[in-house]
Amino acid sequence: MNKTATPTTQVFPDSAAASQALAMEVVALIKSREAQGLPTVLGLATGGTPIQFYEALRKLHSAGEISFRTVTTFNLDEYLGLDRADPHSYWQFMHEQLFDHVDILPDNIHVPDGTIADSELEAYCRSYESSIVEAGGIDLQILGIGTNGHIGFNEPGAARDSRTRVVDLCEKTRNDNAVHFTEEQQVPTRAISMGCATILDAKRIALMAWGERKAATVQSALHGPITPELPASFLQEHPDTTYYLDKGSAGGS
Ligand code: F6R
Repeated sequence: MNKTATPTTQVFPDSAAASQALAMEVVALIKSREAQGLPTVLGLATGGTPIQFYEALRKLHSAGEISFRTVTTFNLDEYLGLDRADPHSYWQFMHEQLFDHVDILPDNIHVPDGTIADSELEAYCRSYESSIVEAGGIDLQILGIGTNGHIGFNEPGAARDSRTRVVDLCEKTRNDNAVHFTEEQQVPTRAISMGCATILDAKRIALMAWGERKAATVQSALHGPITPELPASFLQEHPDTTYYLDKGSAGGS
């Protein structure tokens, strides 16, 4: 893919306003596809960043503004070794934040399974990719960004053409995510993650970032060289990406 468009940025007064705006974009997308008799495929992220976004979607659903019955979701990643029942699993996170509160059909939910045996992982990752293609591809991919520039768990060094696979988590990512874990249960060392190419195949991408601590990374991702050392920089080559920023994360851009 050649560089066709620099991502656009939308800067909001705060993360709540940005999350609400992105939730409204999702509602508009689902409604417009529904009106054409089409399902909607969403790629979803976990972590601290999208919490207000999921809260906004829950509220819009309970206000009768939106149904998820025509929606299929694919999550970006899951820690390897965590059972779905584990409170730290992204399966649990997604059910607590969104799925348990809306009318999405359980069969339409896809979160990588962190309990797959090593011998089966390669085939499992290939089947995750096939399921996305069979669903018609991702209409809108929601992303956060790591302080090291990762998207999904595509850590620095990840190839532009990478697909869903097992990844080793960087020390920095494990430190950043340690706040969600306890002394006894440490951050896993590996995860299953969609690849950079999987993400870039999405028709549209919306990346959220909040706070000054992400500002330098956002600045480099938007305007720095396109390099595997900062996987979010690959988004410069995507034709339809918007960064949803608050004042803090937009500081340097
Ligand atoms: C999560 C994910 C990660 C996070 C990133 C930022 O599914 O794919 O790329 O978006 O690590 O995490 P937070 O939002 O906790 O700062």
